[in-house]
Amino acid sequence: MAFIKLASTSDIKTGKMERYSHAGERILICHVDDGFYAVSDNCSHEDFSLYLGALHGEVVKCSLHGGKFNVKTGAPVEEPACIALRTYPLEVRDNDIYVDIDH
Ligand code: FES
Repeated sequence: MAFIKLASTSDIKTGKMERYSHAGERILICHVDDGFYAVSDNCSHEDFSLYLGALHGEVVKCSLHGGKFNVKTGAPVEEPACIALRTYPLEVRDNDIYVDIDH
């Protein structure tokens, strides 16, 4: 495990998402009603940045073809998305967000 500090909780308002990169990984951190979740920023359909899409509740919509994913599980919830996103363990310590990028 290699938890890396990527953000502070105040950086991402509820209902918003931000993208970060570390060691070649593009990571999207989403702030939903019950906390923060980290998934790959790469849409599994055609490797497009999900940050360019929109977050509605716990579902992120890809802006390229409209595929949707649950950011808590990475699961695809609307086609053409059919392959789950990579998810990353995330911990909030004090007011900082740490993500395990080696998971
Ligand atoms: S690239 Fe995301 S749905 Fe096609």
